[in-house]
Amino acid sequence: MNTLFVGQNLISLELVNSTNTFLLELSNSEKLVEGTAVSAKHQSGGRGQRQNSWLSEPEKSLCVSVLFYPKIDLDHQFTFNKCIALALVSFFKGLGITSHIKWPNDIFVNDKKIAGILIENAVRDKQLQKSIVGIGVNVNNDCSAIKEAISIKETLEAEVSINELLSSLFVELEKYYLLFRNDKKQIQELYNAHLYKKDSQLHFIKKGESFSAILKEVDDLGRLVLIEDGKESAYFMGELSFNFL
Ligand code: BTN
Repeated sequence: MNTLFVGQNLISLELVNSTNTFLLELSNSEKLVEGTAVSAKHQSGGRGQRQNSWLSEPEKSLCVSVLFYPKIDLDHQFTFNKCIALALVSFFKGLGITSHIKWPNDIFVNDKKIAGILIENAVRDKQLQKSIVGIGVNVNNDCSAIKEAISIKETLEAEVSINELLSSLFVELEKYYLLFRNDKKQIQELYNAHLYKKDSQLHFIKKGESFSAILKEVDDLGRLVLIEDGKESAYFMGELSFNFL
């Protein structure tokens, strides 16, 4: 493994309900080193953002969870999410695939989702003490039946080894986590440079009312900054509905 700590302690499972749940429970029962990872060939109860489930076919997707101790003030916890999304963009770049980050942290290729991130945090003393970063990547899946999804195989027109992908994902996670530790400003800039539909005029719904605005950027607190009739406003996740069309 070409890393200092991410994935050095790797637990590889055939089948688990959810790698996030497994790692969360393990980390509650014993002190684990930072970078401990759990991967599985299949999940029977994969979880996604906003209580959704995350479906995956056995041995076709990359399913991994990694433990971090970010120790950052809660106000800036989204900067940590940004560094994980950037690690994925860089991981795809290494495969020759151009991807973008759909706010808050879905990874899109050609207007379709190729990877999802589920970050579950433990907070103490107004600080992010522990983060379980769950990542699901569509690798050798056939996504043609799902309008909004795509896999690496479909993008590259070739099957890829999930084990090899896992090692390069660990390298990128470590690289961007260290950047997050050292240079948060650069994380903010890079995130906006890879933001899906940046500077586009899009439709949003706020308190039941639909409106059109330009997507300017995501600010340091993780809010979506829009320009509506020349005026700037910023929204947290949950304050807006949108489908980025
Ligand atoms: C999403 O886009 O909604 C997030 C999907 C996250 C899926 C991954 S797969 C590995 C880890 N274990 C889970 O149960 N979920 C995450």
